[in-house]
Order: sequence, then structure tokens, then C-alpha cells
Amino acid sequence: MAAPSRQISLDVDELPTHWYNILPDLPEPLPPPMDPDHGPSRVANLPNLLIHACLAQEMSTERWIPIPDELRQLYLQAGRPRPLFRALSLEKALGTPARMYYKSEFFSPTGSHKVNTALAQAFYAREEGFERLTTETGAGQWGTALAYAAALCGLKCTVYWVRAVHSWKKARLGYMQMLGADVHASPSNRTAFGRGLWERDHNHPGSLGIAISEGLEDAQSDPKAVYSLGSVLNHVLMHQTIIGLETQLQYAKAGDYPDVVISCLGGGSNFGGFALPFVGDVLTKGKKVRFIAAQSQAAPNLQGEYRYDFADHAEITPLLKMYTLGHTTAMVPIKGDGLRYHGCSPILSLLRHRGIIDTIAYPADERHVFEHALTFMRTEGFLPAPESAYSICCAIDEALRCKETGERETIAFNISGHGFMDIEGYREVLGMDAAERASPSPFLGI
Ligand SMILES: Cc1ncc(COP(=O)(O)O)c(C=O)c1O
Repeated sequence: MAAPSRQISLDVDELPTHWYNILPDLPEPLPPPMDPDHGPSRVANLPNLLIHACLAQEMSTERWIPIPDELRQLYLQAGRPRPLFRALSLEKALGTPARMYYKSEFFSPTGSHKVNTALAQAFYAREEGFERLTTETGAGQWGTALAYAAALCGLKCTVYWVRAVHSWKKARLGYMQMLGADVHASPSNRTAFGRGLWERDHNHPGSLGIAISEGLEDAQSDPKAVYSLGSVLNHVLMHQTIIGLETQLQYAKAGDYPDVVISCLGGGSNFGGFALPFVGDVLTKGKKVRFIAAQSQAAPNLQGEYRYDFADHAEITPLLKMYTLGHTTAMVPIKGDGLRYHGCSPILSLLRHRGIIDTIAYPADERHVFEHALTFMRTEGFLPAPESAYSICCAIDEALRCKETGERETIAFNISGHGFMDIEGYREVLGMDAAERASPSPFLGI
């Protein structure tokens, strides 16, 4: 028998022509956005908040939404389709009977899956005559992706970046600025909402919920600007299904199919993009697949309450039915800060509520997660983003479980980004600086 192929690639003309919209296939209708009992209607304000094409996609019940040709060209420019790898070296090192496959979103030009929706949103915003995009960012990957997409589409870009991360990721700040973005630590003094928090505490660490409020307020006060969200919403997950749709084609080429599908989850965009096409197979074709969302105990939103809550701190958005920790809840900063968001996307929350998605939350000190990331690096050779390390950690834990039970499961995991700009964070969590001071040949033991 021929040795299994390490890399399963797609030709350029195999790039999917449509995104997958799971709404018509859900086991029950998705609870709609709602207004709170008091104050102005947030639902009626949605057309003033979002790009119109995206708002139409948000509500669409069409199963397949065509990807415009010009946007497909931008996807090709960004290096899609991306390979699926068989993790043969990792399997061998773990001694697992499981077959492990990972999708390589780390080949994205800016370093993460976020470009898949950034390009779509910038493309539609330009079509609608907007000149500037505003947004929030946590880890910085989304801000970089939108800055990149705005540059390619000839738009300006303003980014509100959670201060706790902004203050230590200097290289990524420079990267966004080199792409032409205007970047502000959030809470900032540029918006009324941000100023209120900033004046009380100039070192306020911020949160994604606060940064979203700032991005929304900025766009609302400029008719030439529109706000762009990097996760949570239906249309964002749908743009990301390009990941899972490619992966399905690649599995067909490999003559295999996943038993378990794993990815990290903050607001839900990479998990949704990777998993939803497979969830569609479960819901419409009777396939049996387990889905696991890897999270941090710093923000285990899927273990929160399933109820209506705001998506932002200042309560500008409508209420969304989702698993939430509460939109004003403070959460400790972590190096995988893209996972630190209070709520999970409504689509994935419904699937979790129906028992279709499982979740695991790893300790907030991140050591276990980052040590597994090192095992992956030293066998497969790629440096994952800190968030993606959670996906790897969960895949390794599953593979080790298979080793104990002897199960020959097929494990699919998504690596949402690379960690070239996150090495400082890895060094801190793994105690590399302290180890270096204590020993002339540090780290060989990790
Ligand atoms: C590399 C990477 N992976 C995952 C995430 C989590 O976001 P989401 O759940 O929307 O995929 C982020 C967020 O910033 C990220 O930068």
C-alpha cells in the first residue's frame, strides 16, 4: 500500500465558488436579534451599523451564497486554496493509532483565517461606496487582516485594539500601521464611550466588548465609514466556511472522513468556518462526527448561560441569543487573547444547546496548551498562533486518548494562524527568560 500523502492540495480552479449558509439546515430556526425593553431600537438600527450586503447575508435562508468573481481573485491572491496536512510526524511522536489532519490557515498573508471575511467585507464596503472601515481587535490578527483587506480594496481603516494586548505586541502594531491603518489602544479618548473609561483609568486593559463599542461609535458618526466585525455574526462564519468546504474536498481526495473536528473558539469564526460544512453533513446526510471547541478558562463562554445578551460593552448592538459570560464581565488577559470574548456566535450557541458541539476549556496559565504547541512545532515544524495552540492541544489530547483506547479515529483540526509575532508571549508563559538566566543551555528539556 502506498504511504499516505503528507499534503493534500487543491488546484486553483477547485477554489469553492459558493459559501455554505447553514441557516436553512439548522435543527430549529435561529432565534432572531432582539431589542432590550428600554432605549432606542437596536434592531431597526442594524442597516446603519453593517455593510448592506453582509446584513442581507446575515438573514439569508439560501443554502449556497455565490462568492463574487472579483473576491475569488482576492482569495487566490491571498494564497487560497490552502493545503490540508496529514500530521504523520506528530502521530509517530505521540504513538497514536489516530490519523491526524490539520488545515493550514497559518499560510494566510497576515497570519490568520481572519482574511477570509476581511476581504469579503472590504470588497462589499467598497462596492457600497464606503471609504473607511472601523473595527475592534483583540489578539491583533483581525485588525491586521482588515488593514490588509482595506489596503487591497483602496479603503482607509481604523482599528480599536484592546489595550492589554496593544501594549505588548509592538511588531504587530507596526505591521498594521505599515498596511496604512490608524490604530488606537482601547479604551481610547477618541470616542465618548471609550473616553468615559479611559479618563477613570488611563491603563484600563480594555476588552473586545469595549473595543467593539468604540468601533461602532466611530463609524456611526461618519457617513463615509462602516463598521466591520471579525467574528460572531452569521455572515462572518459563512465567509469562513471556505475553510471547511476546501477541507471537505481534500478529505474526499484523501479517501478519508473525520470522526472528530476540532478548533479553538473565541467568538466562533474559525471554528464555525471549519466545522459548519461538516455539521451540515451531520444534519442533512446522517454523518456521525464529534465537534470540540477548544477554549480558555479565562473566557469559557460556551460554559456560560444560553440567553439574550449584547455583543458589545456599551449595548449598541441588538441582543443576540448566545452562550455568554455577561457582556460587562471582566476576564483576565491571556496570550491567546483572541479567545477572550464574552459570547459565542448564535449559530454555534444553538448547536451547543442542541448537544451537537462539545467544549473544553484549558487552564488560563496556558502552560499545558503551549507545551503541546511545542510538541507540534518540533514534529510538524509550524509555529501556531497562541489561539491555534488550543486547537492543537485538544487534538493531541484526543490522539492520546485514542492511544489509550486503541481507537483509530480520524482527527481534523484547524490551525487558525501563525505565531511569528507572538514569540514573546510563548517565552513568558513557558518561563524561557527565567530558564535562560538560570542555565546556560535552557529549554532543551521542554
Ligand atoms: C489566530 C486566531 N485564532 C482564533 C481566534 C479566535 O477568534 P474566532 O473564534 O472568531 O475564530 C483569533 C481571534 O483573534 C485569532 O487571531
